Amino acid sequence: MPQTQIIGTGHAVPDRVVTNADLAAVMDTSDEWIRQRTGIGRRHWVVEGESGTQLSLLAARRAMDAAGVEPSEIDAIVYATSSPDHFAPGNGVFVQRELGVGPIPAIDLRTQCSGFVYALSMADAYIRAGMWRTVLVIGAEVQSTGMDVSSRGRNTAVIFADGAGAVVVRASDDTDGSAILAWDLHSDGNFAEMLWVDAPGSIYHPRNQAEHHDNKSFLEMDGKEVFRHATSKMPESVRAVLKEAGKTPEEISLLIPHQANLRISELVQRSLGLRDDQVYNNIERFGNTTAATIPIALDECVRAGRLERGDLLAITAFGSGFMWGSALIRW
Ligand code: UT7
Repeated sequence: MPQTQIIGTGHAVPDRVVTNADLAAVMDTSDEWIRQRTGIGRRHWVVEGESGTQLSLLAARRAMDAAGVEPSEIDAIVYATSSPDHFAPGNGVFVQRELGVGPIPAIDLRTQCSGFVYALSMADAYIRAGMWRTVLVIGAEVQSTGMDVSSRGRNTAVIFADGAGAVVVRASDDTDGSAILAWDLHSDGNFAEMLWVDAPGSIYHPRNQAEHHDNKSFLEMDGKEVFRHATSKMPESVRAVLKEAGKTPEEISLLIPHQANLRISELVQRSLGLRDDQVYNNIERFGNTTAATIPIALDECVRAGRLERGDLLAITAFGSGFMWGSALIRW
């Protein structure tokens, strides 16, 4: 059976930087509160006219350049986002059109913060099944346009941000080389409304209602519930992939946790007994870019030389759904 190797990474964020002071100028918050509770110092938000597809194209081209892969070699695109440019179709086809990759499948996944983990698992499954050899996997979001940028929305507006990350994965017959060793994926719809965007939705007649603009169309979150579950499910899930691969936390070279909140990452690290040098966080500079956090962080690590062939990389995510999951990767 072929193994799946990550052969190139890339990321892109909007040029516009929004600092905590910028937010404190328009809502009742402060740099101190945001840093203390979330570890975020700044984030990137789009300007009007800038889209998730555009950011993804930049990230994808960087990943393809790094992999040395031509558009004609890509067999499929798996695109994870909870904030597509349009209600339908998903962003995958817009990326497919712009990249000039031919009429290949372009599949959108809506698995929110766990989006990249799920998208990578899907690419891996198709590759192992022998259907695809080279796949572009994207995690991207434009969250800023769905934020209530007033004091009413301060518990989410200070957290969420925009950006895109991409990886190129390829089938390999080298059983001792780089490979994805184990998966752990879950969801629990009992908590679906704990972190959600209610409208627009087809449950409403008509789907799009002006009165929803102010009360149902912003991201709503029960922060405490999310925090409580994230800090228990992510370590549990990392332990599950370690167990499946017969590895221990000490053997992890690098853990990239979904960048939800620095306090969550710190508790995940503590729960797994990992040293600081085993965990990568960049939320201070990017905020929470949902499906994009892991591929953005991964690209930074790769470009900074933090990963060497043979290293054990763990990725883990938790978010809306609730959905969560992890992968263990031999780099
Ligand atoms: O990808 C998954 C995404 N979501 C998460 O990871 C979120 C996980 N949860 C969290 O990160 C935290 O729950 C938050 C950072 C969102 C909130 O922290 P908290 O310690 O749970 O605060 P809280 O919601 O209990 O609110 C405490 C106080 C409240 O004021 P009162 O009622 O005590 O007067 C809030 O209104 O903090 C207030 N507050 C703020 N104050 C200043 C909430 N947001 C802000 C804000 N600035 N931005």
